[in-house]
Amino acid sequence: METKRLTKEDIPAAARIIAAGGLLGIPTETVYGLGANGLDPDAVKAIFTAKGRPQDNPLILHVPDVSWLERYCEDVPATAYGLAQRFWPGPLTMILKCKPTVPQVVTAGLDTVGMRCPDCAVTRLVIAGADVPVAAPSGNASGRPSPTTAAAMLEDMEGKIDAILDDGPCAVGVESTIIDLTVTPPRLLRPGGVTLEELEEALGEVAVDEAVRRLMAPGEQPKAPGMKYRHYAPKAPVTVVKGDPDMTAGYIVARMGDKSGVICFDEFKGYFRGHPVEAIGPVHDQAQQARRIFEALRAFDHLDVTDIWAQSPTDEGLGLAVTNRLNKAAGFHIIEL
Ligand code: TXA
Ligand code: MG
Repeated sequence: METKRLTKEDIPAAARIIAAGGLLGIPTETVYGLGANGLDPDAVKAIFTAKGRPQDNPLILHVPDVSWLERYCEDVPATAYGLAQRFWPGPLTMILKCKPTVPQVVTAGLDTVGMRCPDCAVTRLVIAGADVPVAAPSGNASGRPSPTTAAAMLEDMEGKIDAILDDGPCAVGVESTIIDLTVTPPRLLRPGGVTLEELEEALGEVAVDEAVRRLMAPGEQPKAPGMKYRHYAPKAPVTVVKGDPDMTAGYIVARMGDKSGVICFDEFKGYFRGHPVEAIGPVHDQAQQARRIFEALRAFDHLDVTDIWAQSPTDEGLGLAVTNRLNKAAGFHIIEL
């Protein structure tokens, strides 16, 4: 199939693609998504096929405003409305008990569903225009880094989807934070654009799922099924080096090979002259690091590198989301200095 390029002038055409059961690349503030009518099991199945995604990995539903929660969720706690008021539209997905109207193929048979209202006006207009919730995973082929531009999504999805709606690069750059509100205390399943510190301020105690910080052993089941898969990985193996940036830069310089690539902070670019380098932003600019991390990981697939070394940000604030993506790209191959 020919994948059409749409812009914000084409919102009605984009809504028609969703309503007709097609596949649409949608912009969001986090990453581009692969959207389809979340109430149409065949359309949702086509998402899994286009991505090569395992069937046991549920999708989240995107809605244009908080009033849609009641259409698809049961026993919605007051905390959900509190969080929506504070963080929606925005990079927060809430896991809630679902109504039977949500197809099993969306939830992978769970009795819960992830709900998200993206901070992207064109996409909210498309969803409202189609008048159905849009099921959308990140728009990468399964296992690859998530796309933060329409061009990156087309690398994986050209010819596999009906159209992509281009709204420029994503403002946040890492996927939404996922919080499970069906358990007490609420549990962070995936760190993202809304930070753990912000959630703690809003909710009090927040548990952090083990899968956020370490590799799941074979057979272990994280609460967000997607967290168990190798993910975000460029073709060359990645080693993450944690510690003071001066130390990590020195460590990498001393060990890198002729064909090593490097992911580093802007201040350290000069250390790695002669090597493919992806600078992800200044040491203290976590927002820039989040926006750059997936493009940096993708860039190495176009370069002749045997391995990739990465300086690791710290775990505070947005850093928890960035380090989680980097660690997963590295299969948790981490060196702590
Ligand atoms: O920012 C985002 O959330 C992007 C944009 C497109 O909105 N979407 C996204 O979707 O990252 P995806 O499918 O790539 O990641 C969703 C994650 C997966 O790890 C999945 O296992 C988990 O959410 N998930 C979905 N439904 C769940 C549920 N009912 N319970 C627990 N985890 C769930
Ligand atoms: Mg994904």
